[in-house]
Amino acid sequence: MLVHPKCFIIYPHVSAMYLTTNSFSDTLKPNIETKIFPDGDSYVRIKNISAYREKPVALFHRLYPNQDSAILSAVLMLGALKEVGAKVTLVAPYLPYSRQDKIFLEGEALSAQVICRLLADAGASKLVTLDCHFLKKDGEFEYGGLNIQNISANRLLVERARSIAGQELLVVSPDEGAAYLTSGFSGKAMKKARGDYETGDKAYRTIKHMERDFDVEGKNLLVIDDMIATGSTMIKAVKNLKDGGAKKVLCAATHGFFLKDSLVALRKESDGVFTTNSIPNPVAEVNIAGLLEIYKS
Ligand code: R5P
Repeated sequence: MLVHPKCFIIYPHVSAMYLTTNSFSDTLKPNIETKIFPDGDSYVRIKNISAYREKPVALFHRLYPNQDSAILSAVLMLGALKEVGAKVTLVAPYLPYSRQDKIFLEGEALSAQVICRLLADAGASKLVTLDCHFLKKDGEFEYGGLNIQNISANRLLVERARSIAGQELLVVSPDEGAAYLTSGFSGKAMKKARGDYETGDKAYRTIKHMERDFDVEGKNLLVIDDMIATGSTMIKAVKNLKDGGAKKVLCAATHGFFLKDSLVALRKESDGVFTTNSIPNPVAEVNIAGLLEIYKS
């Protein structure tokens, strides 16, 4: 992976052709036709598909929101391209289901692996994604039969934080799983203890507490994570740091879901919150479009 001086992330693999859906219309002009049949089935058509016969193609598809139907539509697109022997790199900045890469309770689906296998079987020869939850570092990986190029947005996020709060910024991860995001910045990691699954039909394990073994008194801090979903992790981390006497605490993540009222709560607790636009949201201030340029040319 090369990092352009303008901080655009550039992939070594160059495709002269790209296909994309409405999910990327903020960046690329959609060129795949999608419709819904009256019974709810999805319809996909790639016009002029013979142009992609035996060719390398980059398929840009944000697989979120509505991840179940988004994944299915990607599978249909991959299926059409497989028919003509195209070599498809799927560019999906966020990989849904990446959080269940372990079995905690007997009988649980290993969702991350199932989805990767599905995409590989459907015809993706490679997945390019950002800060994939279970990979926890940059690089090329093979998982569930899928070749994955994982790119971290941490440099872009830290650069944005420094432009807000200055160069003297301590970069902190809210748990050890996200510690890799602070590497290269002499960062620190907090420890997060999760509780049991909540009762009812919501698959969520509450956060019991946060631990920290470093001093933050009077410091400006950036808390960085791969994702902000319910915001519980970030809110608990910010509270811990403020209680420890931190001066200014910014929050950043590669993927921002901001479920329920978490954005309002985080804005209240912290001194600023932002994410990349891997998932469009009101604070998606760091643009990942630069990484797409090379595919468009
Ligand atoms: C967990 O290991 C992840 O890295 C994030 O910390 C977590 O998924 C964030 O979720 P939430 O915002 O719901 O606490």
